[in-house]
Amino acid sequence: MLTKDQVERYLNRKTEKTIYFDSIPSTNLIAAQMAKDGTPDGTVIIADSQTTGLGRLGRDFYSPPGVGIYLSYVKEIPAGTENLGLLASIVALAVCNAITDCCGIPPKIKWPNDVIINGKKVCGVLTKLITDPATNKMTHAVIGIGVNVNQREGDFPEELLYKAGSIRAAYGKRIQRAPLCAEIINNLDKLLLTENALSANACAYVKIIRSMSCTIGQKITISSNSGKEPAKALDIAPDGGLVVETSAGIKVIRSGEIEESGEWSLVSTY
Ligand code: BTN
Repeated sequence: MLTKDQVERYLNRKTEKTIYFDSIPSTNLIAAQMAKDGTPDGTVIIADSQTTGLGRLGRDFYSPPGVGIYLSYVKEIPAGTENLGLLASIVALAVCNAITDCCGIPPKIKWPNDVIINGKKVCGVLTKLITDPATNKMTHAVIGIGVNVNQREGDFPEELLYKAGSIRAAYGKRIQRAPLCAEIINNLDKLLLTENALSANACAYVKIIRSMSCTIGQKITISSNSGKEPAKALDIAPDGGLVVETSAGIKVIRSGEIEESGEWSLVSTY
């Protein structure tokens, strides 16, 4: 099990709240409630397994015990936060850097925030924005991160077999989850709390995110309220959007869905 004692040996944080569970329905649900109750900036909820893990597009997120990392990070969103559109990719960057440092494998980012190794998704991110009903203003982002660490090929449900991978499958041997989990949190703390990447000059982050993108250069299909549209992904825009070329010209997309290599991703809708 992923325990407090194991993870805290590797954590750099001293004061922010880190809360551990054996098994819960979803770390995102608990984190969202805590955000509404005013938990401190940077609060993290970690579970060894989830019974009803939530994925994007209303899907379930398969969260068995003993093999994955399931955590939610609560980030306050002060009024005037400039780079909110970059949040998804900054989270993917934090996960990629942790995987590179702990496992020696440099993953790619499928825009906006899937983490890919050898063409397979090893980490997904589900971000929920919390609004204060009294003011109707956004107050927090709950960033849910699910990493497939030690699953073997064939461990995934049939419908995920061709899309989902694990770090172990790529690395060839078992990975220690505790240092990896701690390093993801350390990187999020650095990017979101210390460097305040959501308010800082975005250029440096966009440059790194671009260099890790496996979406740029790909043929994609964009799906929105007005239908489906083939396109080519050209670049990551300074605000985190995806620059695409369609038959109608070049534009930046920030909402809708894109399909790349047969897999749909939800586009950030900030
Ligand atoms: C996706 O569909 O790609 C996003 C998956 C996000 C899963 C994580 S696991 C921790 C957190 N709690 C949840 O219920 N979901 C997110």
